Amino acid sequence: MATPLTERLKADGTAVSIGEYEASGGYRGLEKARAMSGHEVLDLVKASGLRGRGGAGFPTGMKWSFVPAKDDGGPRYFVVNADEKEPGTMKDRILLEGDPHQIVEGIAIASRAIGAEHAFIYIRGEYLASAAALERAIAEATERGLVGRPEEGRGPEIEIHLSSGRYLCGEETGLLNALEGKRPNPRNKPPFPQVSGLWGRPTVVNNVETVANLPHILREGPEWFKALSPGSDAGTKLYGVSGWVAKPGVWEMPMGATVREILEGKAGGMAEGRVLRGFLPGGASTDFLGPDKLDLRMDFDSVGKAGSRLGTGTMVVLDDKTCPVGMVLSLERFFSRESCGWCTPCREGLPWIVRILEALEEGRGEEGDLERLEDLSRKLAPGRTFCALAPGAVEPLQSALKLFREDFEAHLRRKGCPWK
Ligand SMILES: Cc1cc2nc3c(=O)[nH]c(=O)nc-3n(C[C@H](O)[C@H](O)[C@H](O)COP(=O)(O)O)c2cc1C
Ligand code: SF4
Repeated sequence: MATPLTERLKADGTAVSIGEYEASGGYRGLEKARAMSGHEVLDLVKASGLRGRGGAGFPTGMKWSFVPAKDDGGPRYFVVNADEKEPGTMKDRILLEGDPHQIVEGIAIASRAIGAEHAFIYIRGEYLASAAALERAIAEATERGLVGRPEEGRGPEIEIHLSSGRYLCGEETGLLNALEGKRPNPRNKPPFPQVSGLWGRPTVVNNVETVANLPHILREGPEWFKALSPGSDAGTKLYGVSGWVAKPGVWEMPMGATVREILEGKAGGMAEGRVLRGFLPGGASTDFLGPDKLDLRMDFDSVGKAGSRLGTGTMVVLDDKTCPVGMVLSLERFFSRESCGWCTPCREGLPWIVRILEALEEGRGEEGDLERLEDLSRKLAPGRTFCALAPGAVEPLQSALKLFREDFEAHLRRKGCPWK
């Protein structure tokens, strides 16, 4: 089973050096990209079928193609989104810490495709080890003349920016505001960042895992990339599992591996004495799926058809000894705290949801609370708020209300949490 993104990672956790990276074929993708025009690089990535790994699964080549083709002589920017604050998600950190040259090479390839001479890595503030590994890798690559000399066609210049730490800084337009030194409120779209992004200039934002795929696609070609997966979504995917399982962790597998292959095969199944009740397939802001979905393929389309989202591909598991109402409350507390307060349904709706869930847990629940929660979920549906934080926040709630209805009702009936 090919694992191009993680096969160089070292057991002792230290970062792959430039020598080790080059010895395993590193920077050959960039060499190829530099022998091609930016447009040819873009076409090749488009042909590979790569879809963004930051959560929405938007086709990467198509995203790049929205950058205006005509060069007006002004700057363009490429930005790596390494904020990774989605609860339950810890996949990008492994790539950043363990194989930073893969990211540096991916940045140089993407910058070649869109004509960017400056790139930024916007990284979660707590990821100090990742930032240090990247800094070293950028210095090594600059010293070898691989990046950092845009005036000689060996760009881009790469800067690392440590986030000051809000979930919303990961939303790509909030991220751009944060990079500009402003409050990370999301921006109106359109215009999309590809047309008017950082300081009003064309900008592409891509997730770490998306970027990590680029060196391999350039080196091995689009057909090789498509053949890595058994289904229609190309490539491999970093899947993760957290919760009461035997071996929580992150593993690279073919895109479209089944829930069973990940949960039982890699995570070793449920921890002793625990039974699977459900799981959030792609981080905290996705809908719960039940144990009947063990044979579901974890790719964008299959998870979408099953009523949830692949999101970040990192599952959060719910077992039979954990209260689903308490679990959802903990997630909604996070989302409510992280709301930027810009639009009323999110600013007022999320704290209201938290208050109702707290009341249910503490035995103060009232008749009509479950209907109120359903109504609030509808009011925070996609299109009702300025950004995707609020619709994502209600995905675990609305699905829990359906899948674990009897648990919510038991809180009302028994005047408190049956698990306490
Ligand atoms: C509240 C919120 C937080 C987000 N956090 C992240 C994040 O930490 N990392 C990330 O790559 N994308 C995050 N996203 C998605 C980004 O807005 C964007 O879609 C992504 O960086 C695009 O990269 P891709 O095309 O490579 O997937 C977030 C979105 C929202 C609404
Ligand atoms: S949905 Fe929430 S986080 Fe997004 S802009 Fe509105 S208030 Fe801010």
